[in-house]
Amino acid sequence: MADISSDESSSDFSRYLLDKVRQLEERNLRLREEYSRVESEKRSAESEKLRYERDVRKLRSELERLKTPPLVIGTILDVLETGKVVIKSSTGPRFIVGSSQFIDGADLQPGTRVALNQQTLAVVGVLSSPKDPTVYGMEIIESPSVDYDQIGGLKAQIRELKETVELPLIKPEAFAKVGIEPPKGVLLHGPPGSGKTLLAKAVAQRTNATFIRVVGSELVQKYIGEGARLVRELFEMAREKSPSIIFVDELDAIGAKRLESATSGDREVQRTLMQLLAEMDGFDVRGNVRIIGATNRLDILDPALLRPGRFDRMIEVTLPDLDERVEVLEIHTKGMNLADDIKLEQIASITDGVSGADLKAIAMEAGMFAVRSDKDLVMMSDFEEATKKVLTTQKMQPLRDTGAMFA
Ligand SMILES: Nc1ncnc2c1ncn2[C@@H]1O[C@H](COP(=O)(O)OP(=O)(O)OP(=O)(O)O)[C@@H](O)[C@H]1O
Ligand SMILES: [Mg+2]
Repeated sequence: MADISSDESSSDFSRYLLDKVRQLEERNLRLREEYSRVESEKRSAESEKLRYERDVRKLRSELERLKTPPLVIGTILDVLETGKVVIKSSTGPRFIVGSSQFIDGADLQPGTRVALNQQTLAVVGVLSSPKDPTVYGMEIIESPSVDYDQIGGLKAQIRELKETVELPLIKPEAFAKVGIEPPKGVLLHGPPGSGKTLLAKAVAQRTNATFIRVVGSELVQKYIGEGARLVRELFEMAREKSPSIIFVDELDAIGAKRLESATSGDREVQRTLMQLLAEMDGFDVRGNVRIIGATNRLDILDPALLRPGRFDRMIEVTLPDLDERVEVLEIHTKGMNLADDIKLEQIASITDGVSGADLKAIAMEAGMFAVRSDKDLVMMSDFEEATKKVLTTQKMQPLRDTGAMFA
């Protein structure tokens, strides 16, 4: 009996133990699973952490980069024996500075454009192109779309420009044969709005030459302190891309007579002028670079500019006479819907002394009057109104002398 019961109790106990073992095994399995899950979570968290750390590093370096002060652009004026260089930053004063040891000494030449540390102005980099991008910006790549047939009158001036600028570029041998040197520089002078800029553009259109236009007032106002260098680089580019025509519009802005009492602004203008004179002296007449200047203030030009070998050929661009005024009006009314009663001769006859630009303004105003009164055609009355309006505006400008036609 007792055996049986002891037998029973022992088998109970072993079942109990088996159960326990199974439970423990299950638990072990679960824990293992749990462990591997946590383990993989940990790995992914770690890789995420690495990613964030990388991001942080990137942002930090970006931040550093953004915080670095800008570099100043300067030009080397001279290289001293000590290895130091004299530089001029675009703001004006000159400095003697050192340069970074990573820069090849051979790259440091007078005239080279360099990047300067903002605080010490030490040279920290050499700019690849010695030329200023503004110089390249001055080149007009496509020729301006002005042809001689869009110029009213000015026949003699056109012929002279052809002979002195176009021909030497197209047929240099003709000059060589005769044994004469074509003029280096041609100066167009005449009152405002008489068509000087227009003429130069037309010449550019006709030749295949590179046309480089530079406006005197821009040279000294927009690129303060850089005028002389720009002039030098401009001529350099003209030589590289020859045949070329350099057109200096508003020459008076840099070419006014030099005065004794000079402010720093004047001195800047004078430096630019000196450079222009030097460049003109420097280039070979038979080379393929021609220069056209334009001014409406011949009276204030420095005589040095007009000496032989510089702008020694003058072309006076005059105000249109009666027939020429008709031509100019015809050109500027070509696209307009004109009434049959329009007599451009009549308009021309009452506009003695006005410029081509004024005539263009009259044509445009007449069109405006027609638009305002909602007409399809421009009438003679519109032209009369327009003429009156343009002439009275002219009279308010003291420089002009258009006479008192409608007083
Ligand atoms: N002879 C002309 N025939 C046709 N249009 C003309 C003529 N003269 C002037 N114009 C018109 O007047 C505008 C201004 O002329 P332009 O710019 O050539 O004058 P400018 O002589 O250079 O004057 P500024 O001395 O003020 O620079 C031209 O764009 C053109 O439309
Ligand atoms: Mg002009």
